[in-house]
Amino acid sequence: MLVELRLLEIPQALKSLAGVKMELEDCAYPCLSKVVCTTDPLEAFDSADCIVLVGGFPRKKGMARNDLIHANTKIFTEMGAAIDEVASPNVKVLVVANPANTNCLVTLNEATSIPTKNFCALSFLDHQRAKAQIAKRLGVSTARVRNVTIWGNHSETQYPDPLTDGYCIRDDGREVSLASLLKDDVEWVTNDFISTVQNRGKSVIEVRGNSSALSAAMASADCLKTWLVTGTNDGETVSMAIYNDKGYYGIKKGIVFSFPCVCRDGNWYVKEGLDLSDFAREKLAVTEEELVEERLAAEELIVKSRLRSLSTTSLTSSESDVEMTNSTHSGNYLKSRI
Ligand SMILES: NC(=O)c1ccc[n+]([C@@H]2O[C@H](COP(=O)([O-])OP(=O)(O)OC[C@H]3O[C@@H](n4cnc5c(N)ncnc54)[C@H](O)[C@@H]3O)[C@@H](O)[C@H]2O)c1
Repeated sequence: MLVELRLLEIPQALKSLAGVKMELEDCAYPCLSKVVCTTDPLEAFDSADCIVLVGGFPRKKGMARNDLIHANTKIFTEMGAAIDEVASPNVKVLVVANPANTNCLVTLNEATSIPTKNFCALSFLDHQRAKAQIAKRLGVSTARVRNVTIWGNHSETQYPDPLTDGYCIRDDGREVSLASLLKDDVEWVTNDFISTVQNRGKSVIEVRGNSSALSAAMASADCLKTWLVTGTNDGETVSMAIYNDKGYYGIKKGIVFSFPCVCRDGNWYVKEGLDLSDFAREKLAVTEEELVEERLAAEELIVKSRLRSLSTTSLTSSESDVEMTNSTHSGNYLKSRI
């Protein structure tokens, strides 16, 4: 299968994008048929089968969280609208740019013609980080560590959880639960491990001076490969932040939340029925609350911009009544998918 890549940038970055294009050509990938550089989302997404949303507004020093959400809500509303207008109806969308979960929610809320199952935000990198930390602690290869789960937001409130469903493959091929292997190491799990994984992105920035690049790119590629091409191996889950329309594990509907997922035939399915400890439930509640707050901040901006467009668009009185009525319920404005 041949791949045509469309690289979307803001105008100021087009020159360096041309350098990326040159490098891609120099890799001589046998399956890469064409590389297009553009600043127009409608050109970038036209008939696209797969979209990875990486570009966003970065958090600047001293920037309040709500301002970051607002800046990105503007961008991802535009992305969602363009996807809705021109992408393939079966397009699959992976959102990487932060705040990834809420950017994904804003995008899928705007792209109402695309099923919500076709969207996910990247928590796969956190999953890999968690797996690597456990493997290091146990002195085994990462390939032997299975079903560590990232629950919730791709942020410092996420709950990296090796205990609920995690297991390790021993030399003789037997599966042993991580809960039993780590039973004398609970202190490490509940303190060092959780905070190391939660803060890993920040630690990389501190040491490297830039955010994760290779690991984020690998995780994005592996997430897409597992979701769309290979599926998960029998008995294995991966972490994916998906639109929670079913209220999985009692988590509020209408947010994008990371769950343990099984992938088959190009679809993900949340692994249900896992027994969560009280400790895990507490951790899930914290990250759920943060995502609800992020959603409210995004809604705030959407309401404001709709009100602005109302004042510049002439509506019939009945249309106007509907808009204004909805807009007063700002806590639940994200139109159709909440
Ligand atoms: N989910 C994860 O696990 C994860 C991991 C690493 C990075 N990230 C996030 O991914 C994003 C990219 O990270 P990075 O280190 O490559 O950042 P970066 O700043 O190096 O690159 C972002 C690029 O996006 C472009 N851009 C900005 N606004 C745009 C728009 N409206 N349309 C198109 N392009 C736009 C910028 O010009 C820039 O080239 C950041 O938001 C980062 O926080 C997420």
